[in-house]
Amino acid sequence: MREAVCETTEAMIGRALLQWYDANARVMPWRVGPLERRQGVRPDPYHVWLSEVMLQQTTVAAVRDYFRRFVALWPSVADLAAAEDAAVMREWAGLGYYARARNLLACARAVVREHGGRFPDTVEGLLGLPGVGPYTAAAVAAIAFERAAVVVDGNVERVCARLFAVETALPVAKPELVQLAGQLTPEGRPGDHAQAMMDLGATICSPRKPACGICPVMEFCKGRAAGIAFELPRKAAKPVKPLRRGVVWVAMRPDGAVLLEDRPPRGLLGGMPGFPGDGWDGRGSDAPMAADWQELGTVRHTFTHCHLELNVRAAVTEANPERGAFVPRAAFQPDALPTLMRKVWQVATASAVESGLGSA
Ligand code: ADE
Repeated sequence: MREAVCETTEAMIGRALLQWYDANARVMPWRVGPLERRQGVRPDPYHVWLSEVMLQQTTVAAVRDYFRRFVALWPSVADLAAAEDAAVMREWAGLGYYARARNLLACARAVVREHGGRFPDTVEGLLGLPGVGPYTAAAVAAIAFERAAVVVDGNVERVCARLFAVETALPVAKPELVQLAGQLTPEGRPGDHAQAMMDLGATICSPRKPACGICPVMEFCKGRAAGIAFELPRKAAKPVKPLRRGVVWVAMRPDGAVLLEDRPPRGLLGGMPGFPGDGWDGRGSDAPMAADWQELGTVRHTFTHCHLELNVRAAVTEANPERGAFVPRAAFQPDALPTLMRKVWQVATASAVESGLGSA
């Protein structure tokens, strides 16, 4: 006689989620869909790792084109490892959080140097790579190598907080949410499960207006039953971001060449090219050369830890700079600059007629 097997609620939720994912998985350039996966197709670990690094603090929509360009330029992790730092930073320009790009290169080189060009296939092994933290290690282990790793990003936190009506505010609630996510993680199809949780969080269990009426796990959702799903997860008030002020100088030679310098390796936009600034740390520093600097306006930008307000000054000059180097106009690519520097360039060129820059 067969024993009646009693399925746990967690297992039922996991099963309903995978069923929903089979029919509704979002198509992404780095993803192997559930049907192909069942036919034995495995995603390229390099693609999974690259996409996960790009997706940190960045939307899927913003990442798609960057991802396609990166794999076209560097089809394997060995190709990326052999790339010039400046080429990679240039391709990353606009994605933000530039420490990720530096870690990306360090990681690709470690995979080649220490692992013969193959990514480790366990969470522990992946955690040994530069720039790979618990989230990325779990995501790559689950999605690329079918390890039953617990993958918890903001989407998963939200889904778990609602499913289990966790009212403790983040970040205190984090360990509890990780534990609950662990209870939902199945031994079979952990990669699809992780992506199903993320897709559910991104499409149905969205932050402000969850579409509970079409949710595949609504019958299990304690947050919905209590009428509080849309309020969860609760979050502790964020500290107010400090405002930093600084100066940025746009120097142009009469032949149109533009003065650029690489920022110091650490700190805001570390290692990225841009117009010389004064450090933006309140200590100030001198302009890159003596010139008839004109004030053109203010550019504002928000980083993770601060707001920044830059006073844009510009001059047409033939003086030699004390730092940075002039880049001929034909070689100057504003699109290869970080977003903040593109905003500075916009202000400089919008005011070109008044400042004399436009004659170049
Ligand atoms: N966000 C981060 N990683 C993701 C993934 N693999 N699928 C969907 N959204 C994600």
